[in-house]
Amino acid sequence: MDVTIFGSGYVGLVTGVCLAEVGNNVLCIDIDPKKIELLNSGGVPIFEPGLEELIKSNREAGRLRFSTDAEAGVKHGLFQFIAVGTPPDEDGSADLQYVLAVAKSVAEHMDSYRILVDKSTVPVGTADKVAKVVRDTLAKRGVDTEFDVVSNPEFLKEGAAIEDFMRPDRIIVGTDNPRTGELLRALYAPFNRSHDRLMMMDIKSAELTKYAANAMLATKISFMNELSNIAEAVGADIEKVRVGIGSDPRIGYQFIYPGCGYGGSCFPKDVRALEQTARGLGYEPQLLHAVEAVNFRQKEVLFDKIKAHFGGDLTGKTIAVWGLSFKPNTDDMREASSRVLMESLWDAGAKVRAFDPVAMDETTRIYGERPDLDLAPDAMSALEEADALVIVTEWAQFRSPNFQSIKDKLKHPVIFDGRNAIDGRLASSAGLSYYSIGRLPLI
Ligand code: UGA
Repeated sequence: MDVTIFGSGYVGLVTGVCLAEVGNNVLCIDIDPKKIELLNSGGVPIFEPGLEELIKSNREAGRLRFSTDAEAGVKHGLFQFIAVGTPPDEDGSADLQYVLAVAKSVAEHMDSYRILVDKSTVPVGTADKVAKVVRDTLAKRGVDTEFDVVSNPEFLKEGAAIEDFMRPDRIIVGTDNPRTGELLRALYAPFNRSHDRLMMMDIKSAELTKYAANAMLATKISFMNELSNIAEAVGADIEKVRVGIGSDPRIGYQFIYPGCGYGGSCFPKDVRALEQTARGLGYEPQLLHAVEAVNFRQKEVLFDKIKAHFGGDLTGKTIAVWGLSFKPNTDDMREASSRVLMESLWDAGAKVRAFDPVAMDETTRIYGERPDLDLAPDAMSALEEADALVIVTEWAQFRSPNFQSIKDKLKHPVIFDGRNAIDGRLASSAGLSYYSIGRLPLI
C-alpha cells in the first residue's frame, strides 16, 4: 500500500520504516530540509537501536523515501499519517499548530479520497479539529472529495521502538467509519498475526486511551517514588516493599521501580496536557496534578541528598555524573532528571564531570561548552578529581562497576544511586558510603 508519513521525528521515522519493512511503499515528508538531506545521505537524526539498519535496507529496496515536498506526499499515499510534534504550550496544553498545518497541507493538495491518520499524541477532540481544517480548506478550493480522519495513537518506547511497533501489545484504531477501519486493519495485518490485537473504537476513546495509558504509567512511578520517601522516613526498604506488592497480580512487577523521577518527551508532557484538557472542561483533576508534583520533587531528591552529605555547601566540589539521557538506550535528554541535578549543582557552585554512553553530543547541544561541565571519555575517567559519584541513568554498563577503583579515585568515597541500579552492599563493603532511593541506608 502507498503510505505518506508527515514528520520524520521519533514516531514518524519508526512508523515509516516499519511499514516499509513489511512491503509498503512509504514516503516520509518533513519540513526540515537538513533532516531530509541527512536521511537521504544515509544518516539518522535520532539514536534508536535497529533504526539505521532498517532505514538503509528499505531505502535500498526502494520502499522508503524522504522528501520535503508536501504535495508529492499528498499525491502519494492513501494513508496520510500525521506524526509531527505536539510541544507543550506555556500552560502545559499540547500545541496543535504543526498537526493542523499538516491537515491544511493535505487538504490543499488532495484531489481524491485520503485517510488522515493521527499518530501524534493529540488531545481528545483533535480529530474533529483536523476534520474541520480539511473540510474548510477543501471548501475554499471548491474541491468536493471525501476523506476520513482516524485516531491511531502510538505506544512505542524509546530504545525499544522498532520491537514495540513490530510486535505491539495493541493497535488502537479510532474511527467513525467502519470501512476506513477495515483499511487500517489491512495495513496493520502484518503486525497483527498471532491473535487479534487491533481494537476498533470511537475516535475520542482512542484519543483518550493514549493519555490514559501514559498517565497510568506515570502514576505508578510517582506512587512508588512517594512511597520510597516514606520508606526512608520510617526506616523500611522500598525494594523489599516493591517485590512484596508486585507479587500481587493486580499490582504486578512492571513499572514500579522507584528512582529520581520520570522524564522523556511523553510522560511529563502528556500528564500535564491531560490535566489541562480536564481543567479546560471545568474538571479539576487532583490525582494527575499530584503525579506531576511528586515527580517534580523527586527530581530534586538526589541534589538534596548530596547537599546534606556535604554539610550544605557544595562550592568548589566536583560531582561525577553517570548517565545523562532520561533512560538507558537513548540519547534523548528531554525532561531528563540529569538536567535538574546538573543545573542545581551548578547553581550551588559545584562542577560536573559527566559520562553517558550515547548522550554526550546531546549534552553539548543543550549546554554548549561551559567551565563547570566536563564530559569524560568513559565512566571511570569521570571520577578523576571528583568528590562523589551520582548514578542518574541505569545504563547496563554502570550496574556492576569495580567498587575498589571507584573508592580509590573519589576524593570522598560516596555513591548516590538515583536508580537503585547497583548492589549497595558491595559498594559499602568496598568502603563507599551508599545512598539510594528508599533503600535502607548503608553509610
Ligand atoms: C513512554 C511509554 O512507556 C510508552 O508506552 C509510550 O508509547 C511513550 O511514552 C509515548 O507516549 O510515546 P518512553 O517515554 O520512551 O515511553 O519511556 P519509558 O520507558 O516509559 O520511561 C519513562 C520514564 O519513566 C523514564 O525516565 C524512566 O526512567 C522512568 N521509569 C520507568 C521509572 O522511573 N520507573 C519505572 O518503573 C519505569
